[in-house]
Amino acid sequence: KGIVGWVIAHDEALVIPDVSQDPRFYSQVDERTKFRTQSVICVPMRIKGRVVGALELVNPDRQLLRDEFIVSVVEAYASLAAVAIENARLYDRLQLENQGYRRVLKGGETVIVGDSPAIRAVLEVIERVAPAVTTVLILGESGTGKELVAKRIHELSPRRDAPFIAVHCAALPESLLESELFGHEKGAFTGASSRKLGRFELAHGGTIFLDEIGELSPAIQAKLLRLLQFKEFERVGGTQTLHADVRILAATNRDLRREVEKGHFREDLYYRLNVVPITVPPLRERREDIPLLAEFFVQRFSRRLGIPTLGVSAEALQILSRYHWPGNVRELENVIERAMVLFRPNWIEPEHLPPELRQGEFGSAETDSDLPPLWQVERRMILRALEDTGWNQSAAARQLGISRSRLRYRIKKFRVPVRKGGSRN
Ligand SMILES: Nc1ncnc2c1ncn2[C@@H]1O[C@H](COP(=O)(O)OP(=O)(O)OP(=O)(O)O)[C@@H](O)[C@H]1O
Ligand SMILES: [Mg+2]
Repeated sequence: KGIVGWVIAHDEALVIPDVSQDPRFYSQVDERTKFRTQSVICVPMRIKGRVVGALELVNPDRQLLRDEFIVSVVEAYASLAAVAIENARLYDRLQLENQGYRRVLKGGETVIVGDSPAIRAVLEVIERVAPAVTTVLILGESGTGKELVAKRIHELSPRRDAPFIAVHCAALPESLLESELFGHEKGAFTGASSRKLGRFELAHGGTIFLDEIGELSPAIQAKLLRLLQFKEFERVGGTQTLHADVRILAATNRDLRREVEKGHFREDLYYRLNVVPITVPPLRERREDIPLLAEFFVQRFSRRLGIPTLGVSAEALQILSRYHWPGNVRELENVIERAMVLFRPNWIEPEHLPPELRQGEFGSAETDSDLPPLWQVERRMILRALEDTGWNQSAAARQLGISRSRLRYRIKKFRVPVRKGGSRN
């Protein structure tokens, strides 16, 4: 799209002595420069022979540009600028590595990416609490990184070489969960053909992470309370009392105090678990972390999937920074992966992001649990249909099962942005 798009796509310099004659020129440029552009020189920026961007010179004048010499100066400048930008990017990357992310990117240690005051406060508590055997209750919305916090605590603890065992309490029905956690004796119930060790035994000397603790049944809550109080438990169907040497970390995305008030969760167990609470803040409350996280995920996926994406463009980053992220870091991770897999771009640009991120009114919605008004849903569907069909309104109307005139009416009414049909990117 536009002159820059053409130059990047064709890897060729472009000299336009009179932009009024060239439909590729974006007249909005003049709103920013506050002058009327007459002529343009645009040259590709290359790093090691690969086009990574373009440098565009807009000029209120015409004569100068006809000069071959000027074009070669601009080309020389663009190659210097490309190197400078590449260096700046490498510097950012180096900083990531200096912060200890290198081992993580190589798939070793867990690191919690982020530099916001909110995340730094979390990291500080993690470091303080890790060396002890203290029980930690990790709170936070879905996808904020609770499991990551648990793993990090284990890795920083003296138990780091012993097992870290995670149990997703909501994933199993009560009866199975009980024997999963505490084990069972042969013949404890139909189908128990042999003795089975529970996760508490398997985690002996190490750490157990009980995820979605708010889902535990009263019977299991009682057994867990006893384990926390006396370090004792029995296998299902067993009489022998066993001693547990495990550190317990628990997590939930529910408001556990409210579950206690409603009588769904034992108060005594709540206090035993809530010795040190760590609340992982939602991503929208630490937007400063978004650029660093995005860069981290770009690197991770370019390594893992072999996609040579360099980073996220300034415009795309602005969109990412404004969105309200109901699915938190996991959603950001998915958005980056999706963009890279579907488009394999040099830079992730706004058009590689899902449409819901690009809608201002969704971005500012603070009440994520509320359903959006119907018109917003309609608007979103229309936008998606237009994107699916390459901005062909007849095809989009067919896809939506409405007439073309009705579609046009709605586009106007909901102020859906329209682009010219045909090729994209
Ligand atoms: N600060 C972070 N740095 C790097 N990766 C992160 C960070 N926070 C979350 N992630 C990544 O986001 C994804 C979700 O994190 P995690 O599974 O720990 O969230 P959760 O809070 O346990 O979510 P849920 O409540 O849905 O189980 C994971 O892939 C994790 O690696
Ligand atoms: Mg989790």
